[in-house]
Amino acid sequence: MANSRLPLPTFCIFFLCLFLSIQARKHYHTKHRHNHHHKTYAISEPPSPSPTPQPTDPSNTNAYNSTSAPSPSPEAPSPSDDGNADNSTDAPSLSPSSEPPNPPNDYNSTHASSPSVDPKNPPKEGNGYNSTGAPSPSPSPSPAPADSPNDGNVLDVRKFGAVGDGITDETAAFKMAWDTACEKDLAVILVPYGFSFMIQSTIFTGPCQGSIVIQVDGTLMPPDGPESWPQKYSKRQWLVFYRINHLSLLGGGVIDGRGQKWWDLPCKPHKGINGTTLSGPCDSPVAIRFFMSSNLTVQGLRIKDSPQFHFRFDSCKNVRIESLHITAPALSPNTDGIHIENTNGVEIYNSVISNGDDCISIGSGCYDVDIRNMTCGPGHGISIGSLGNHNSRACVSNITVKDSVIKYSDNGVRIKTWQGGSGAVSGIIFNNIHMNNVRNPIIINQFYCLTKECTNQTSAVYVSDIQYTNIKGTYDIRSPPMHFACSDSVPCTNLTISEVELLPAKGDIVLDPFCWNAYGDLPTITIPPVSCLLEGFPRSLLDNQLDHC
Ligand SMILES: *[C@@H]1O[C@H](CO)[C@@H](O)[C@H](O)[C@H]1NC(C)=O
Ligand SMILES: *[C@@H]1O[C@H](CO)[C@@H](O)[C@H](O)[C@H]1NC(C)=O
Ligand SMILES: *[C@@H]1O[C@H](CO)[C@@H](O)[C@H](O)[C@H]1NC(C)=O
Ligand SMILES: *[C@@H]1O[C@H](CO)[C@@H](O)[C@H](O)[C@H]1NC(C)=O
Ligand SMILES: *[C@@H]1O[C@H](CO)[C@@H](O)[C@H](O)[C@H]1NC(C)=O
Ligand SMILES: *[C@@H]1O[C@H](CO)[C@@H](O)[C@H](O)[C@H]1NC(C)=O
Ligand SMILES: *[C@@H]1O[C@H](CO)[C@@H](O)[C@H](O)[C@H]1NC(C)=O
Ligand SMILES: *[C@@H]1O[C@H](CO)[C@@H](O)[C@H](O)[C@H]1NC(C)=O
Ligand SMILES: *[C@@H]1O[C@H](CO)[C@@H](O)[C@H](O)[C@H]1NC(C)=O
Ligand SMILES: *[C@@H]1O[C@H](CO)[C@@H](O)[C@H](O)[C@H]1NC(C)=O
Repeated sequence: MANSRLPLPTFCIFFLCLFLSIQARKHYHTKHRHNHHHKTYAISEPPSPSPTPQPTDPSNTNAYNSTSAPSPSPEAPSPSDDGNADNSTDAPSLSPSSEPPNPPNDYNSTHASSPSVDPKNPPKEGNGYNSTGAPSPSPSPSPAPADSPNDGNVLDVRKFGAVGDGITDETAAFKMAWDTACEKDLAVILVPYGFSFMIQSTIFTGPCQGSIVIQVDGTLMPPDGPESWPQKYSKRQWLVFYRINHLSLLGGGVIDGRGQKWWDLPCKPHKGINGTTLSGPCDSPVAIRFFMSSNLTVQGLRIKDSPQFHFRFDSCKNVRIESLHITAPALSPNTDGIHIENTNGVEIYNSVISNGDDCISIGSGCYDVDIRNMTCGPGHGISIGSLGNHNSRACVSNITVKDSVIKYSDNGVRIKTWQGGSGAVSGIIFNNIHMNNVRNPIIINQFYCLTKECTNQTSAVYVSDIQYTNIKGTYDIRSPPMHFACSDSVPCTNLTISEVELLPAKGDIVLDPFCWNAYGDLPTITIPPVSCLLEGFPRSLLDNQLDHC
């Protein structure tokens, strides 16, 4: 009954989700090689997120099975089913003897003596307790009721034995807090301000009874580098949220991925002896993954230095990401800001991302994605693809990117596909984007390839109905400002380029746009002028041979 005061819908929370693994590995290789090649700009290009739409393989292992949740769906094996995870639920054995975890029933609302949370300060939708997170435009439906909250819904991880000294392994406490939260109609897991919590690779599993908010006001971090990463845990992911509906990850705190030692592994680009790159497995963890989840919100946090992608969403639905600040060094390998795959109903707003790879990457199976007011760079820009790897079918549609800035990046807005794929990319709008010193501000590459060995094939992912409007700023003259390299057999159609003004960042050499088999319209004059775009619709393209997805 206590919960009745904060009905689920009121409690805000939008959406979110994620996952993968074999894919992550592939992706890694992709990027990894990319780093060898990207200096020689050719038709082949920077790699991309996981290519194939193959079934995700959550097998990542031995992370904790943190709940008593039901078993995962058939198409997606449990994240822990390839390892000794089965016994891990009861095996955290982490807490130092000096500080035995408190019994979980501390959360009993009538006894709750939550140390750092002001009981008068109810978990509001969106910003939660002490969120310094940026203002949110309008994420949540309605404010929390004014009367005092049920304290029992606030689960401070310290009440579960977490110490917060940045050294102690706090995994068991977080698991316990999660399991407790998962059984409530509504729960806030509080990571308090002023404390730092080190936790191991963990899978937080649902479904849960109600909504869960994870309020991060302090600092969360994984073990420091591969040497400190216990063998028994997956090296491909750190925190995973699996099969959860209605989860919010909020707060003014920091998630520190401690990626440096992973980036320095000799298998990473140029990190081997004398600047070589050694071969061999090179898994590095994605910081935060959401898999098969829905109604997710991620808001206000600072996330830095992930060993690999910062966020990855696989097979999720209804995801709202807002007011994030993601940073990693420009040369950190494979550190995409946000990757989405097989995910739809995504809003990514008001965030700042600078890193060593794509700001946002959009993989196969994504649709209804709205991206606004982003500041990206340095990095590799906003990417759709790569799609169609290994002759796979990829469908991406209804993606809007607008009101954003992309600076000091290898690419601005990019679509990349492999030869031999099928499916379609359509209904993409890039509008009102400011480019500052970007190498390929506008680019479509249907000859994406990681090696020199790709052959041209007759099948391709069909690219159509792409609008570029009001894209202005400067480009790095190592590459032309617009580059449309479309498949020989399946040309790009209905590209609309208007109000585009791109000038060299340095010097006055204006490069001509490049087009190959690109059809479309120019409603306005552009700078530089695009004279290479073909008019109309290619006669060779019979509608019945196209896969519109
Ligand atoms: C899990 O525990 C059971 C019985 O306690 C044992 O037989 C099994 O080998 C254990 N599995 C792993 C992966 O440790
Ligand atoms: C997780 O734990 C629950 C309960 O202990 C168990 O039923 C389930 O099989 C476990 N799942 C995995 C993937 O280990
Ligand atoms: C919570 O407190 C109530 C009333 O004091 C008590 O009846 C109940 O057993 C407690 N529950 C737990 C889990 O401690
Ligand atoms: C809230 O955050 C401020 C700084 O951002 C800190 O001084 C204050 O102690 C925090 N309050 C709580 C309840 O964590
Ligand atoms: C690394 O470079 C140094 C100096 O050029 C050379 O002496 C050494 O043999 C190289 N090491 C390897 C493993 O190639
Ligand atoms: C997301 O939340 C809405 C509103 O609560 C609900 O109707 C919908 O079923 C949820 N989506 C999924 C996939 O569970
Ligand atoms: C855009 O995002 C920034 C944070 O990067 C925020 O300060 C600003 O208010 C946002 N603008 C709008 C119109 O929401
Ligand atoms: C495209 O996606 C937006 C959300 O980003 C949605 O509101 C709109 O209805 C979608 N359009 C179509 C044609 O599905
Ligand atoms: C593939 O086709 C493109 C465009 O016709 C051409 O530029 C490129 O050289 C071809 N690649 C190979 C490997 O044949
Ligand atoms: C071209 O694309 C626009 C959207 O970018 C769409 O509205 C229009 O219907 C398309 N035209 C054709 C002929 O398909």
